[in-house]
Amino acid sequence: MAAFGEEFLSELRNRCDIVSVVSRYVELKKSSSSFVGLCPFHNEKTPSFHVNPAKQFFYCFGCHAGGDVITFVMKIENLTYPEAVNFLAESVGMHVPKSTALDSEISLLRKKILEMNRVAARFFHDTLMSEKGGVALEYIKKRGLLPTTVARFGIGYAPESWDSLIKHMQSKGYSRDDLKASGLVSTTERGMFDRFRNRVMFPIIDYRNNVIGFGGRALADDPAKYLNTSENIVFRKGENLYALNHARTNKLGSLILVEGYMDVISLHQAGFNAAVATLGTALTPNQARLMKRYTDKVIICYDSDAAGKNATRRAIEILKNVDIDVKVVTVTGGKDPDEFIKAHGADKFRELLDGSSNDVEYKLGEISFKYNLNIDSEKAACVREYLGVLSGIRSRVEREVYIDRIARETGLTKENLTAELETYIRRRAREEKKNEEKKAYSMLSGADRNKNVNPEAQRNLSAARAEEDVISLLLNFPQKLDKIEKTVSPDDFVTDFNRKVYTVLCEKLKENPSEEPQFMLSSLFEPDEVGVLIGYITQVGALSVDGDEIDAVAERLRSEKKKKEKSGDMSDEGFQNYLENLKKKGK
Ligand code: CTP
Ligand code: MN
Repeated sequence: MAAFGEEFLSELRNRCDIVSVVSRYVELKKSSSSFVGLCPFHNEKTPSFHVNPAKQFFYCFGCHAGGDVITFVMKIENLTYPEAVNFLAESVGMHVPKSTALDSEISLLRKKILEMNRVAARFFHDTLMSEKGGVALEYIKKRGLLPTTVARFGIGYAPESWDSLIKHMQSKGYSRDDLKASGLVSTTERGMFDRFRNRVMFPIIDYRNNVIGFGGRALADDPAKYLNTSENIVFRKGENLYALNHARTNKLGSLILVEGYMDVISLHQAGFNAAVATLGTALTPNQARLMKRYTDKVIICYDSDAAGKNATRRAIEILKNVDIDVKVVTVTGGKDPDEFIKAHGADKFRELLDGSSNDVEYKLGEISFKYNLNIDSEKAACVREYLGVLSGIRSRVEREVYIDRIARETGLTKENLTAELETYIRRRAREEKKNEEKKAYSMLSGADRNKNVNPEAQRNLSAARAEEDVISLLLNFPQKLDKIEKTVSPDDFVTDFNRKVYTVLCEKLKENPSEEPQFMLSSLFEPDEVGVLIGYITQVGALSVDGDEIDAVAERLRSEKKKKEKSGDMSDEGFQNYLENLKKKGK
């Protein structure tokens, strides 16, 4: 924090109102004194994510993410503190004061890896275009890729060699340690060698145009047909999508989700530049949220094999969870979109897109496929599954449309189907209500607070609650610092995390008497910790504590500490019983 200076940071905060910054990622609705929306950091259907414009912080009662505008950017853009400050400053055209302490080690390393990836991408591409690239270029042509496509996607070739890339990188001044950190090499006891050998290389570029890693397709018969850069601080498979850098500006208004790099490239070449793919893993909630930033509509177009169907079903759920409208295209006559386009052409693929079914139609189709409706017992099972799907539809009219269709298909009456559907809907509503109640209870009690941040709190709930009230007092009433410090000593604390927070905060509040305490958190603690601390301020118990209650809180803290010293740790069994009781109370 000191690296940027208090003046600069407060100017930055003035210009970057938290409500407007968060609104770039989350749809917020005004609700009395705050704004609420669906939390971008976990999946939820009812909003628990609050942004407080007066205090300029956010807090999610569901997952306990919280903090100021800088913490928000750190979390959502996956940046370090100085990177987030730079990011915000750039967005409002502010000049960032230069400082040597500004670039933390980790952001320097991140920069270096990105730079190395760019150098490697150049090397792979040049190799493809050189004499050494002959076989690979032949292969690429055979697969129907045009020179413009090769250039647009920066496709390259990693030669059949153990150290071509290593030598090249070393000639550019990168050390062996740099290479190891980049994930471009593999290491064994025998030494270090090129990770990618005799492979067609696809650079993976994030939406900010950084080369974050590579996918490589084997040219020879290799057990690993595709190989990725190993995960490192810049390459996180579950948080990026292939070709999003191109697709995010497409005019279709939706994204097309396919399985592989080659599917994406074929589709773009055929004019469907809305195509993106995951990076060799199943779709994750983070990737769904990333898509949601650009569109509300996704068309899933996975392979037509059994694996593709399973993946489709899971992807539908993940996308629906972030409120994306899902359509599904089933490719017939070709195992995947790439083969389909090659066999039938772009116009036929356009017809597939136009005829895509929505998620309900797709699910009903998959169910009907499993059963033989001429056999009564199978028909009954099939209808049960159908009604399970329909019970999840909110619109009455939409439900009626499908009831009509099912009545025609099965020969059952609409009246019977509708009556039966009502019981399914009631059951689902009961289950949802139960889940909501559970969620609300654990929110109020703080019982589900982040276990990783302060693991000791789980075993010392009353003591931790008293500690949290002390910290909350400090954050809400920094003008009472003197009195609080005189009344509560760090030795009174039971849990290490809260003791550390108390000590650090007292010290920093003395150093910066004019700074708002909640703004100091992002530079002093990790983002997860900041969320937990914002939670202390917002907890129901803490809210009822006012500035004059410090003596009472201190008293509670000391008596908890004494109890704890007498009894030692709660036994595991006692702890389990305690949790059981808590759960029962919650119901
Ligand atoms: N994949 C992977 N590792 C493998 C096989 C596949 O990571 N051993 C990932 C890759 O991201 C690939 C995607 O899964 O792009 C789809 O795989 P697959 O359907 O097998 O490949 P195709 O896209 O059909 O590849 P190609 O057309 O080049 O054979
Ligand atoms: Mn293929």
